[in-house]
Amino acid sequence: MQDPQWLNAARHVAICGLQWGDEGKGKLVDRLAAGFDVVVRYNGGANAGHTVVADGVKHALHLVPCGILHPGTLNVIGNGVVLDPASLAAEIIELRAAGVDVGDRLRISDRAHLVMPYHRVEDGLLEAAVATSSNEAQLGTTRRGIGPCYADKALRSTALRVSDLADHTELSRKLEHIVAVKNATLGALSAMVGVPWETLRADAILEDTLAAAAGLMPFVADTAALLAEARDDGRRILLEGANAALLDVDHGTYPFVTSSNAASSGIYTGTGLPGGFVDEVVGVVKAYQTRVGAGPMPTELHDETGARMRKRGNEYGTTTGRPRRCGWLDLVALEHAIRISGATRIALMLLDVLAGFDELKVCTAYRSDGRTIKRLPASAAGLAAAEPLYETLPGFSEEIVDCRSLDALPMNARLYVQAISEYIGIPISVISVGPDRNATIMLD
Ligand code: GDP
Ligand code: IMO
Ligand code: MG
Repeated sequence: MQDPQWLNAARHVAICGLQWGDEGKGKLVDRLAAGFDVVVRYNGGANAGHTVVADGVKHALHLVPCGILHPGTLNVIGNGVVLDPASLAAEIIELRAAGVDVGDRLRISDRAHLVMPYHRVEDGLLEAAVATSSNEAQLGTTRRGIGPCYADKALRSTALRVSDLADHTELSRKLEHIVAVKNATLGALSAMVGVPWETLRADAILEDTLAAAAGLMPFVADTAALLAEARDDGRRILLEGANAALLDVDHGTYPFVTSSNAASSGIYTGTGLPGGFVDEVVGVVKAYQTRVGAGPMPTELHDETGARMRKRGNEYGTTTGRPRRCGWLDLVALEHAIRISGATRIALMLLDVLAGFDELKVCTAYRSDGRTIKRLPASAAGLAAAEPLYETLPGFSEEIVDCRSLDALPMNARLYVQAISEYIGIPISVISVGPDRNATIMLD
């Protein structure tokens, strides 16, 4: 399969989700990775679940970049990622068991922060604390300790980084302090929510962490320096975003977001490469809308149509297995996501899921307080009150999973693609019609 001209002309490319996650970023990264030298994750942690289906085999990646399935690529976990050594070690074992040769093709930033066992506990306790309050909604986090780890990163005195794993004496000293703080704060929190608290022991945590991290140490590097060198040597870099623009901690649907800059702005802080080096930002968009976890979603469907999308799209979380909420494509939210991520092109994914619907709707505005608005309200309450206004397009009945060109798509599928592209004003350059690597239409 030949790459289109726009892709050949771009040296460095970023892949960013433009909805609430699970747009098919993993599939797209895998499809493009063969043409790149380096694939880099810059944000998030094991809250991400990126699925790749290659040669009929399905891989679910959480921390390791999806480029790992291509033997010619170096795969980098950047400093902006928060990583749980035990999760990462398990993922590498799983990859090896599936016949993927990780070899010397992985690098882990010495500046990435460590998700520790108490972060997962804290994640659960904070959600339980919200539940005890009658007028607050739980965030519905993945309970992977992501929020607490990024919070400790900002707090500093309770944070640990990959580089701390190198000096066991120093790590032990830091852990003594952190564990004392966590026992005081989390012990009180557990009493508040009525969850039994087992006092944390620094020595046990130290031992488990070192055991989990032992196999990772050969991969640790100053990845910012490594990436700068790769760029200066003319090698091609593919950035793999995790989570998505509407989950961005600054520009997403706060507070129902994740704790990192999941839009493209996270690239620069999360890799150490300066702004402006990326030639194309490919925004990954599902042909409809999904969300897992809590938070407002104006186009959510609670009816048979939503259930059908879930069934056809197999919309269950890669990380937590939770059913994803489904609804029509929200173009108001998409315009916002394009703006904040600087997307230059769109990859429209899972178009095949929409086959067989009599009509297809897209939300082009909201009705709020008696007014028609085209901007995403800042507050969760404002977004929850927004009523979607739809344009209706004719559906297509034919299955399209075997289509490999735009011309092969049914006319109404092409009309749908064209209507979206016209509304958002940037080209749709990739259309995905099935989970497999090859079920992809690349457009010039
Ligand atoms: P990510 O987090 O953005 O990488 O997406 P996930 O892997 O969590 O979820 C996307 C799901 O859709 C996975 O199960 C993919 O295998 C699947 N998928 C990706 N592209 C397509 C497509 O074009 N059609 C269909 N039917 N499934 C797809
Ligand atoms: P990928 O990379 C879908 C959601 C969670 C929750 C909120 C906060 O696979 O697209 P967190 O554990 O990050 O504190 O949870 O964000 N969320 C995702 N939803 N896909 C993801 O990643 C997500 N990462 C976080 O469901 O609502
Ligand atoms: Mg996912």
